[in-house]
Amino acid sequence: MKLKIALLAGDGIGPEVIEQAVKVSDAVAKKFNHEITWTPALTGAAAIDAVGDPYPPETHDVCASSDAVLFGAIGDPKYDNDPSAKVRPEQGLLRMRKALGLFANVRPTFTFPSLIDKSPLKKERIEGTDLVFLRELTGGIYFGKKGREDNGNTAYDHCVYSKEEVRRLAKKGFEMAMSRSKRLCCVDKANVLETSRLWRETVQEMENEYPEVKVSYEFVDAVAMRLVQWPSAYDVLITENLFGDILTDEASVISGSMGLMPSASVGSEVSLFEPIHGSYPQAAGKNIANPLATVLSAAMMFETGFGLKEEGQAIRDAVNRSLAEGVVTEDLSEGSKAFSTSEVGDWLARSI
Ligand code: IPM
Ligand code: MN
Repeated sequence: MKLKIALLAGDGIGPEVIEQAVKVSDAVAKKFNHEITWTPALTGAAAIDAVGDPYPPETHDVCASSDAVLFGAIGDPKYDNDPSAKVRPEQGLLRMRKALGLFANVRPTFTFPSLIDKSPLKKERIEGTDLVFLRELTGGIYFGKKGREDNGNTAYDHCVYSKEEVRRLAKKGFEMAMSRSKRLCCVDKANVLETSRLWRETVQEMENEYPEVKVSYEFVDAVAMRLVQWPSAYDVLITENLFGDILTDEASVISGSMGLMPSASVGSEVSLFEPIHGSYPQAAGKNIANPLATVLSAAMMFETGFGLKEEGQAIRDAVNRSLAEGVVTEDLSEGSKAFSTSEVGDWLARSI
C-alpha cells in the first residue's frame, strides 16, 4: 500500500517523539511491504516563529491531501505566561481540528501488565482496565464566543452545542459500544448545564436505534471520582470537549504514565493521530521523553486509519516487549537504567 502521511512534529518534545514514531512506522512498512511518504509541515509555536501563524494554509493543504496526519505536541511556555499574546500555539491545534472536521477524539485507556505497579492506584482496582473515551473535539466551550467586558474585568466563554454535533459524536459512541461490551456512559452535567440537557436528551432519543446498548447517564463530577475508584465500571464513555479533556488526563494515571496514551481524532475526511500528552517543554531537546504514546498513536493510525490490523499489532507487540524487557524512558525506569527517547525508538524499530 502507498501511504501518504502528513508529519506535524510541533513543539517541545514533539519532534523527538515523532522521530521515534517515524522509525517504528518505517520498520513496519518495510516488514509488510508498504511505501510511506512523509510530508513534514509546520504547526504550533514552531510555525508562529517561522511564519507568524500556528496553522498556516500550507500546513492545512498538506494535511487535507494526506491519508493521515501524525501529530506530536503543541505549546510553548513563552505564550502560557503571557495572557496578552494575540497568537497562541494552541489556536493552531484548535483551528486544525475544526478545519479538518475532526469532531471525535478517541482516547483509549488501558493498562500494561508489566507496568501495573507503576500506577499510583491500587493494582486490584486497575487490573484489566480497558475503556475508551470519545471526546467531542470541535464544539463546546473551546469554540464558543469568548471575550471581555467591563474594561477587561469580566470575561466569558460560551458553551454551545447543536443537536447534530451531539448526534454525530454519540453515533460513534454507540457504534463503538456495539463493537465492544455494549455499555455506553454519557458523561454530562445535566443537573446544571443546558448544553448537558441537550446531550442527554439527544442520546436518550438515539437509544432505540441501538436497543442492545445499555446506556448510563452520569454526572461528570461523579465520573471523575469513579474513574479512579473503579475504572473497570466503564467501557465506552462519550462526553463534550472540556469534560473529555480533563477526564482523559485523569484516566492516563491508570496506565501509569501520561507518556503512554495514544489518541485518534476522526471526522468525515482525513484522521489525525496524536499522543494525549502535551509538549512537556521542561524535557524538550533532552532526549528523555517517553515516545510510546506517539508510537502507539502510529499503531492506531495503521489499524483504524488504514485498516491494517496486523501492522498495528506488530507495533503494539514491540511496545509490550520493550516494557517487559525494561527498555523504558526515565518516567518508567524507577531506579533501574533509563533509556533515552531515541534508544527506545531504535530498539522498537529493530525489534519489529
Ligand atoms: C489535548 C490538549 C489540547 C486541548 C490543548 C493543547 C489545546 O490538552 O489535546 O488534550 O485542550 O484539547
Ligand atoms: Mn488535554
